[in-house]
Amino acid sequence: EGLRRLAEPILAWYEQNARILPWREQPDPYRVWISEIMLQQTRIEAVLPYFYRFVEVLPDIPALAKAEEATLLKLWEGLGYYNRVRNLQKAARIIVERHGGRLPSSYQHLLKLPGIGEYTAGAIASIAYHIPVPAVDGNALRVLARLLACRADIAQPQARKTLRAAAQAMLPRERAGDFNQAMMDLGSLVCLPGPAPRCDLCPVRTGCAAYRQGVADKLPVKSPQ
Ligand code: ADE
Repeated sequence: EGLRRLAEPILAWYEQNARILPWREQPDPYRVWISEIMLQQTRIEAVLPYFYRFVEVLPDIPALAKAEEATLLKLWEGLGYYNRVRNLQKAARIIVERHGGRLPSSYQHLLKLPGIGEYTAGAIASIAYHIPVPAVDGNALRVLARLLACRADIAQPQARKTLRAAAQAMLPRERAGDFNQAMMDLGSLVCLPGPAPRCDLCPVRTGCAAYRQGVADKLPVKSPQ
């Protein structure tokens, strides 16, 4: 349907407006993985210094697998949610033992690793391996809800499922990683939450159902959890 045609202007917008980030400059699987785990509960600006230090001290999966617990905790100190770094090492050890030290390149295999859920598996597969799978974070979810004028509660799994399916349908096969990250950046820089979305800056407002209906500021609906 018409959603497909929005991918091109979104990618064009991304080429002009993408944030410059270290895991985008050098999107190898290890760096993408570490960045996505750090970004799960922490803002980009706070993640940056931790990311640089982490990949400097532990530059690859074998180094992460062998690291002392004290080293890991020190690298993570201040980020919180320490299970994230424990799972990183658990996964690194599995990758060394069962995958020859390289992150698996299939979405399904990534999903089996500790700490890697649907979102993270999609992000690694699409950004590092160019596999056409969606990676819908909270920002991208809001963009999708508005593009479709989705009135369902986006805290509900059924609504998320529908919106992920829409993202899959929009996904340009050859630029999945760029498209997924474009949707995240559009959500964090333009399609802002709450009463003040910046539709004036949006490359796809004419194709946005919420904008056309004058309800962008009312969507998405999200029950407190
Ligand atoms: N949030 C989590 N991962 C991200 C990415 N790769 N780009 C932008 N925002 C993100």
